[in-house]
Amino acid sequence: MKREFIELSLSEKEAERIAWELFGIQGTAQSLPGEIDMNFKILVPDGNAYVLKVSRPETTVEYLQFQQELLKHLETCDTELEHPRAIADRDGLLVSPYEINSGVRHVRMLSWVPGRMYSQVNPQTDSLRQSLGRVCGRITAALKDFEHKEGFRRLDWDIAQGEWTVRHLELFPFTQSKTIRYFLERFESHRQSYALLRKSMVHNDANDNNIVVSENLADPSVVTTIDFGDTIYTQIINDLAVACAYAAMNLNDPLQGILPVIRGYHESFPLQERELKYLYDCIAMRLIISVTKSALNRLEEPDNKYLQISDGQAWDLLEKWRTVSPELAYYSFRASCGYRSHPNYESFLSWAQTSTFSLKELFPTGPGDDAVDIDLSVGSTWLGLKEDFADFGFFDFKIGEFQKADPKKVIAGGYLEARGVYATDSYDKLGNSGKESRTIHLGVDFWLPAGTPVHALLDGEVVTAVNDAGDKEYGGLVILKHQLENFAFFTLYGHLTVASATQWKPGDRILRGEQIAVLGDYPENGNWPPHLHFQVMLSMLDYEIDFPGVGYFNQLDVFKELCPDPNHLFNLQALGPRKPVNEQELLGFRKEHLGRGMSLSYKHPLHIVRGSGAYLIDSTGKKFLDTVNNVAHVGHEHVKVVRAGQAQMAVLNTNTRYLHKNINELAAELLRTLPKELSVVHFVNSGSEANELALRMIKTATGQKDVLASEVGYHGNTNACISVSSYKFDGKGGEGSPEHTHIFPLPDSFRGKYRGPDTGEMYISEVQRQITKVRKLGRNIAGLILESIISCGGQVELPDGFMKGAFEAVRQAGGYCISDEVQVGCGRMGKTFWGFELHGVIPDIITLGKPLGNGHPIAAVVCTEEIARKFANGMEFFNTFGGNPVSCAIATQVLRTVREEKLQENALSTGEFIKKELNLLGKRFPILGDIRGQGLFLGVELVDENLDPLPEQATYLVDRMKEFGILMSTDGPDHNVLKIKPPMIFTQDQGRELIATLEIVLKEDFMQLESTKKTSR
Ligand SMILES: Cc1ncc(COP(=O)(O)O)c(C=O)c1O
Repeated sequence: MKREFIELSLSEKEAERIAWELFGIQGTAQSLPGEIDMNFKILVPDGNAYVLKVSRPETTVEYLQFQQELLKHLETCDTELEHPRAIADRDGLLVSPYEINSGVRHVRMLSWVPGRMYSQVNPQTDSLRQSLGRVCGRITAALKDFEHKEGFRRLDWDIAQGEWTVRHLELFPFTQSKTIRYFLERFESHRQSYALLRKSMVHNDANDNNIVVSENLADPSVVTTIDFGDTIYTQIINDLAVACAYAAMNLNDPLQGILPVIRGYHESFPLQERELKYLYDCIAMRLIISVTKSALNRLEEPDNKYLQISDGQAWDLLEKWRTVSPELAYYSFRASCGYRSHPNYESFLSWAQTSTFSLKELFPTGPGDDAVDIDLSVGSTWLGLKEDFADFGFFDFKIGEFQKADPKKVIAGGYLEARGVYATDSYDKLGNSGKESRTIHLGVDFWLPAGTPVHALLDGEVVTAVNDAGDKEYGGLVILKHQLENFAFFTLYGHLTVASATQWKPGDRILRGEQIAVLGDYPENGNWPPHLHFQVMLSMLDYEIDFPGVGYFNQLDVFKELCPDPNHLFNLQALGPRKPVNEQELLGFRKEHLGRGMSLSYKHPLHIVRGSGAYLIDSTGKKFLDTVNNVAHVGHEHVKVVRAGQAQMAVLNTNTRYLHKNINELAAELLRTLPKELSVVHFVNSGSEANELALRMIKTATGQKDVLASEVGYHGNTNACISVSSYKFDGKGGEGSPEHTHIFPLPDSFRGKYRGPDTGEMYISEVQRQITKVRKLGRNIAGLILESIISCGGQVELPDGFMKGAFEAVRQAGGYCISDEVQVGCGRMGKTFWGFELHGVIPDIITLGKPLGNGHPIAAVVCTEEIARKFANGMEFFNTFGGNPVSCAIATQVLRTVREEKLQENALSTGEFIKKELNLLGKRFPILGDIRGQGLFLGVELVDENLDPLPEQATYLVDRMKEFGILMSTDGPDHNVLKIKPPMIFTQDQGRELIATLEIVLKEDFMQLESTKKTSR
């Protein structure tokens, strides 16, 4: 029996003495966790460090010598890998005897590898796991010619020797022992072939407290593994299984999570296909060893917490692993090593090459032998609005029109097409980085009328004939198995009538040419417009009665060979692979031919092809929750807005020189939201154009040229707008303030010139100072342009009384006041419809843009009667596009939607909910220095303890949020303010998702302030 752990412990003082006496190393000792040895970090004054390992009394010298020789071997084999080096004592010994508490213990000294323990690293990403695999593979490669008799010892932790665990099943409750028994039986069943796998000396212990990770917090990678105490001569695949077992802990999707480990391992140490066959069971066996050891140790050494660390996690993983299909796991492992994911894929291809079928054999009553491709991809413009797809009558009609254009061909397609139409939650799951949607269509769809008979292409045995009932399921479903000489495959027929599908039962034989079933109609066909989903599978995996017809994008590599292209049977050109939109080409062309100043969001730009409500969807069907787009005011592709535009575009679009009701209706819709003083409207195409016009108006009305504006304000991209936009002319490429522009300090009471609650008056005096300055030059001001929350400045809320006081000062000097409502207007503030209303003022002019057209270019200037009169000096105001009937129809519908769907009210309640939750987060994460804003127009400023801005952390956060499927963006002169200004239909649930994801990212290492950063191990 082992002696009590506590009894064997040494003090740090004793460790320091040993280090000095044996190795001549003088430093301070710090105790480290360890399962077997007593370990200490010895820090020496020159900054270097060592590890002192004091073994247990029962440990043999041979075993310790073995580990030291192994390190020496590594040193010569892989000189670039930063692994611990064995250090000899004063007598040249690698293992030194030392008398402690009247007994002899053996001591070793190793060099210290700087870094953090894997268990301390957050986040543990795919790239970190891939680097783990790479390092493990390198160590295996280096150990392959290391020989030592200790490699052949008995070791409980060796997966190959793991069947001892069967003797301890009684330690577990029934359900747990049942799980263990399941895996042990699997392991036992292929013990003989497993025994024949390649063997070598392997590290065999890449657990997360033995893996050293670099100090790079933003992009960590594994440096090395330590502790060779479990090194053993065993099947090489066991080493990878250990690494995978630990790397998979705490992941929502363990299978997906370990694929990078396998890929990395294979890169440095190529794995054989047959080895991969056993990996699934080896991982389970390692977990069983781990939980059994913990259970035994709990009995033996209740004080040693280290022994039990991963017990709960191991159980969670074991239970999850039980739900993973062993076959799918094997195919996934193969794919991640670059092998054909299905071993029969090549056989299928060569068989298919010699066996071509005709579409007429599948559909004898169909229109013909050839096909015409239909695009139902995420961004398909043929598909159009999602509401159009949901309207089956309309969809049928469109299919009918399509068919009329090509009467002799079968409308078909969709193999590996990413589709956005699978909108129900049952197509989503929680992956390792947020929600994942099943979007990749695994078969070919044939769009033929309900009642069309479907015939067998070759002899087959029925394995499934069911009613797969439910919305967006298969409805009537038949699956046939086709046994060929050296392999079998399956064909799947979905969306049949229930009666025709269920006339069969498993085991029935259907002969080539025989009718299988007929196509069903909605809803019995799973509630789809009539079509046949036809799929080929090389395996049924664990599915007994159905098989997914749509897969996850991140499993594409596996599924594309598990479910080969059905067109291999028909060889039709129309169904050949479509040329995908190549994102690199898009980028390349853009770089070469589009303006260089046009930036793209994110290091790896997104290829967005569809919008839907609060989501943007990329070409793979991945949905991103959009917290940034205040342009898609009432939601991306709002059905009523789209239809309003479509309808008017089909009838008339011309300029404003004719009478038309649309322009009047829009003006009336706008005016009903405004105080009566603002009564005259001009329509233009953009916020910039609106401000350009407003500036011209105040200059014409006053006869003056000088304009006041805020520091880091932004008002548009035209010459006049840039000239009042300090954000631009004081930023990169800017040339400073023009002669007639007068900038007052950003009225920011958090980090501005004046800070604290009552700074309104101080900032007003700054405005006054600018007015006085202009007057001293013998000129006067035309007016002021100002946002009620300064957006580009970093969502800065104006201090109380500032807008009112500034307006008064300007008016007293004879100037006019423009409220730029381009970002903040149209209900977004929640409490009020317009930003200026928050401040109890009425501007002389307001300008609006972004939200008005929900993405369509329309903007407006609304002014007082007085300004309108003064501006109308005889010069015609003509705008080719502004105010056209299409734009007006769209904008009218946007304003009506805000009213009808109570979106201003939603901005208030959802915005306040998010702000409250952000404030709670702010209490836990001091990096969130200031949380501000109104309604759905919020800002979160990231700062350190000294209120210095943290732009790198803000960028990191935005990039990580994208990984989790949430779009955010930064602003402010220091790029350290997160702006939250989502479509106004944003729900509280979506707010909750945003907060929960922010919390995940805020916990990550890179987001910790210096004072709270974890120190290295
Ligand atoms: C406050 C403000 N005003 C004006 C504009 C210019 O609008 P547009 O880009 O439609 O020309 C912007 C654009 O971001 C803005 O934020």
